[in-house]
Amino acid sequence: MSDWNPALYTRFEAERTRPAVELLARVPLVAGAVQLAVDLGCGPGNSTELVAQRFPGAAVIGIDNSPAMLEAAAERLRGRPGLRFELADIAAWVPAHPPQLIFANAALQWLPDLQRQLPRLMALLPVGGALAVQVPDNLDEPSHRLMRETAAAGPWAAKIGDAAGLRAPRLAAHRVYDLLAPLAGWADVWHTIYQHPMPSARAIVDWLRSTGLRPFIDPLDEAGREAFLRDYEARIDAAYPARADGLRLLAFPRLFFVAMRR
Ligand SMILES: C[S@@+](CC[C@H](N)C(=O)[O-])C[C@H]1O[C@@H](n2cnc3c(N)ncnc32)[C@H](O)[C@@H]1O
Repeated sequence: MSDWNPALYTRFEAERTRPAVELLARVPLVAGAVQLAVDLGCGPGNSTELVAQRFPGAAVIGIDNSPAMLEAAAERLRGRPGLRFELADIAAWVPAHPPQLIFANAALQWLPDLQRQLPRLMALLPVGGALAVQVPDNLDEPSHRLMRETAAAGPWAAKIGDAAGLRAPRLAAHRVYDLLAPLAGWADVWHTIYQHPMPSARAIVDWLRSTGLRPFIDPLDEAGREAFLRDYEARIDAAYPARADGLRLLAFPRLFFVAMRR
């Protein structure tokens, strides 16, 4: 896949960072208890910045497999003591020292085998350490259903291939709990459905163009990509009608979980 586009990603930074704030608020660790925190899938450093603010005395490492995102993160947080960024694939990542906090906001949904990764990440924590994760839970939303429908309905269908298989299936909340519980002394799992007011159908497409749409449009050439996005935007326009003030409400369910290692 092509690299991420940090500028496009941060266009909706406030909305994307809000779940990281709410996830961090549920982490039951005091500042002095964390010497090392890791932000998996740190992206442009927005979530890493929050972790560093919450645990001022800790070393914080941001991990990502996108050079463009790591460059944006390093630029954003240049000069902050105790912070560093490393290029690595989360799926194979093993810390040199056990971190007291593993934080992952909007990143682990890209792993093909979350059911294997969650117990693995829990096992990397010392006793009393915390795993805190938020993953979008929107594969059944119109935004994502329409990606699959657009993919199947156009001349691009063969190039895109198995649209349903492009994203790993979502894990139900009870399944996540069952994966964490054997290694956890305490676990908290919850859902939030955000309702983001968006200025236009085009803005919704732009939001998704930097994330969930990437596996669909990446295999296409520029003309194919533009045609796909036009078709998709027309479907989004119909699925998210203007509200009383003319804005569109983008419903965005997210699954959160925090667990402490026993
Ligand atoms: C949606 S962004 C989240 C960024 C940030 N954590 C936030 O709170 O907004 C997902 C990030 O995960 C990274 N990512 C996806 N799969 C990855 C993997 N297997 N290993 C490392 N990073 C990965 C992407 O490069 C991207 O920067």
